[in-house]
Parts: sequence; structure tokens; C-alpha cells
Amino acid sequence: MTQENSSQYTWAGRFSEPMSDLVKRYTASVDFDKRMWRQDIRGSLAHAAMLARQGIISAQDLADIERGMAQVREEIESGRFEWSLDLEDVHLNIEKRLTTLVGDAGKRLHTGRSRNDQVATDIRLYLRDAIDDILVLLKQFQSNLLDLAEKEAATPLPGFTHLQVAQPVTFGHHLLAYFEMTRRDAERFADVRRRTNRLPLGAAALAGTTYPIDREFVAAQLGFDGVCENSLDAVSDRDFAIEFCAACALLMMHFSRLSEELVLWMNPRFGFVKIADRFCTGSSIMPQKKNPDVPELARGKTGRVYGHLTALLTLMKGQPLAYNKDNQEDKEPLFDAVDTVTDTLRIFADMIPGISARPENMRDALRQGFATATDLADYLTKKGLPFRDAHEAVGLAVRRAEELGVDLPQLPFAELQKFSPLVGEDVFAVLTVEGSLAQRKHIGGTAPEQVRAAVVRARSRL
Ligand code: ARG
Repeated sequence: MTQENSSQYTWAGRFSEPMSDLVKRYTASVDFDKRMWRQDIRGSLAHAAMLARQGIISAQDLADIERGMAQVREEIESGRFEWSLDLEDVHLNIEKRLTTLVGDAGKRLHTGRSRNDQVATDIRLYLRDAIDDILVLLKQFQSNLLDLAEKEAATPLPGFTHLQVAQPVTFGHHLLAYFEMTRRDAERFADVRRRTNRLPLGAAALAGTTYPIDREFVAAQLGFDGVCENSLDAVSDRDFAIEFCAACALLMMHFSRLSEELVLWMNPRFGFVKIADRFCTGSSIMPQKKNPDVPELARGKTGRVYGHLTALLTLMKGQPLAYNKDNQEDKEPLFDAVDTVTDTLRIFADMIPGISARPENMRDALRQGFATATDLADYLTKKGLPFRDAHEAVGLAVRRAEELGVDLPQLPFAELQKFSPLVGEDVFAVLTVEGSLAQRKHIGGTAPEQVRAAVVRARSRL
């Protein structure tokens, strides 16, 4: 073993030949885990403070470590830090630089600690920060959504089942469905955060450590709610990251559905909305085109987030306790899920105020779809006709309206009466779109007054 070899790798003491370049590249993670450098430094400083407090290192060592870390931080922030593949990962890169700067104190930092509990701590800190960002962005999106829902609280839109016109709803009501979905998403992220926010440090490699450490102190320093209570579990499980990806997958599924609707609504056959030009792109060959690229991409990116969830589940399932290097593969899927979700939220929060309704087209679609047919059936039922008979009578009325090329409220009164003698002058109050909407005035219904009340409730929950 050469001297050079032993100085290159912190762990090279027992090795007799250097690592091949291919193995080096295959096993290194610094290219992607260096994004956790802030968390790594934070974790190290808390660990060092604990070591000094417990008399495991001296006050002078701690001072040296703090001074050295301040410089490391400054070098990374300013882009002067030299990341080295030879030093494998973010942890060894930072530790090595610290040691170069402050000498033996840097070498004492790793007392009572392993990269296994160190990396688990870094990921949890990183994820906690990411969740906090996501929750802020979600709120921003929801708040913009509520503004639009309030503005469109009384705008009639055809509600679909089977993508066929079913019954009138308001555009505001439709948008509020997405508020509910994202509210549950936010709850899920907050819940994942609780389980993420536990400290693995102290587990060391797997079995804990022989030093008189104070884990509670480190946990408090780092803002964790408590410590992971089993050292093997602490270094090995990534279930919190999997849960996070599951929450991301669900969120993306919701945004994908919204995206699909926006794509349809922007198509002139629907023509229900306009999306501001800054969220659309043109075609390089067809000069007339305006394409809804942002929603399309969100729909497409949903696939990769589902993929990350599957990747992490699969990564975990065959691992014996405790830490295995497999776990290094947790980071890229996790980071990409974070990036995809934060970018999607940011862009949708921006895009919502750029969406405007085209009420005349919505109304045309309602008319062509006989959207108030159920209201007529309900009307007859309330007058005493069994619902199945009412259903049939209205079916005939729709056929007649279709023949005449008119909507139900445009059928002459005499014509309507042919389908049931129970039809009275008051029928027009329920046959109109406004009448249909106004009657669904229970909680969760689409009546404009209910939509406005729902917006108020939703705002108070934000
Ligand atoms: N880069 C590693 C990871 O991401 C850090 C932990 C390595 N531990 C070890 N014993 N090789 O998991």
C-alpha cells in the first residue's frame, strides 16, 4: 500500500491496491449528494457541539471546527470549493477540507459518528426543508385558486361525467374541487414531515457508540422532534423518503388531472378557457398554433414522479438490516421528486391568475348537452311522479328538443305539457341553468352562494 493511497481515502488503511477509476465513478455520489452540503455542515456543527459539551473533544477543538466550517461554507457558497470524486461523497469532501484547514480538530469530528447516521440525518434535514418549501408553494397555489374560484363563483360550466355534458356546475365550484384535493396533499406532506423529523445521529454505523453522547441535545440543536429509537432502524430505513414520494405522486396525479382539463378546455372545440400566452408556446412549423405546453409537461412529469416512488420502494425491499450502499441510490429519485413538485407548484401558482373563463362557450356547451334534464325529472318527481317515470318522460322531451334543435327551456310550454300534465308554469324556474344551479344550495353543492361560502371557509383554513 502506498502512502498516497492511504492519504487519498479516509478509509484506505486496510487496502492493498487503489480503486479503479470505473469503481470510483460507480460508487461516488458527490455529484448529486453535494446538494446536501448545508445540511451536512449543520449536522456536523451540532454533533461537534455535543462532543465538546460531553467532554469528548476539547473546547479548542470545537472552536477550530466551527472556524473551519465557517470557511468551508464560505468556499462552497462562493463556488471556490473543489469537489473531488476521489473523496466519494459530500461528507468526506467536507470533512477532508475541514481537516486541511484546521488539522487534528477536523479529524476528531467523526468521533462517535458514522457516515451511515450522518447521511440519514442529512437527508432528513434536507427533506424537512423541502417539505416546508412545498407547503408554502401549495398555499400560494391554493390562494390563487381561491381568488379565481371566487371570481367565477356564478359562471355556469357544463359538469361532465364520461366526458359528456351531465349537469350545470359553476366554474368556481369546479376549481374548488382542486382546492380540496390539494388540501389533502398538504395534510399528507405535513404528516410525512412529522415522521421525517427524527434524529438518526447517535446510531453511528449501526449499533450505537461507546462514547457518552447526548442525542437529545443534538436533536434539539437541529430542530428535530425527537430521536430515532433504534440504531439499526435509524441508519437503514428510508420509509420517510418513500412516503414523501407517495405524497408527491398523489399531488402530481391531481395536477395531471387539472392539466388534462386545461388542455381540453383550451381546445377550440371546448374553448372554455384562455391561458395567458406566457404559459403557452408556438409551433416551429404551424404559424397558427398555440400549445398548452405547461399543463402538458406537468401531465408528463407525473410519470417520472410515479417512477421515483417505485424506485424507492424497490430499492428498499430486499435490503437486510442495517445500512447497505444500496441506500445511496435513494437520493437522485428523491431530489428529482422534490424538484419536479416544487417547479410544478411554482408554475401552477403563477399560471392560475393567467387563466380566464370564456363563459359564452361554456353556456353553448350546456345548451347543446341538455344539461338541465335531471332538473326537469326532479321537478316532475317532486310533483308526485315516480322518478323512473319522470326519467322516461324527460327522455322523450330531450328527443323532441333535439328534433327541434333547441334546448329544453326553449321548448314551448304546450310542447312540454305533452310529456306530463304535471308540468306547470313554474317549470321554467328549474329548467334554466341559473335555476338548476341555485337549487343545489346545500353544503358541498354548486349554488353560487355555496361556492362563495366555500371560498370563505377555505380561506380561513389556509
Ligand atoms: N454516500 C453514502 C450514502 O449516500 C454515505 C454513507 C456511506 N456509508 C458507508 N459505509 N459507505 O449512503
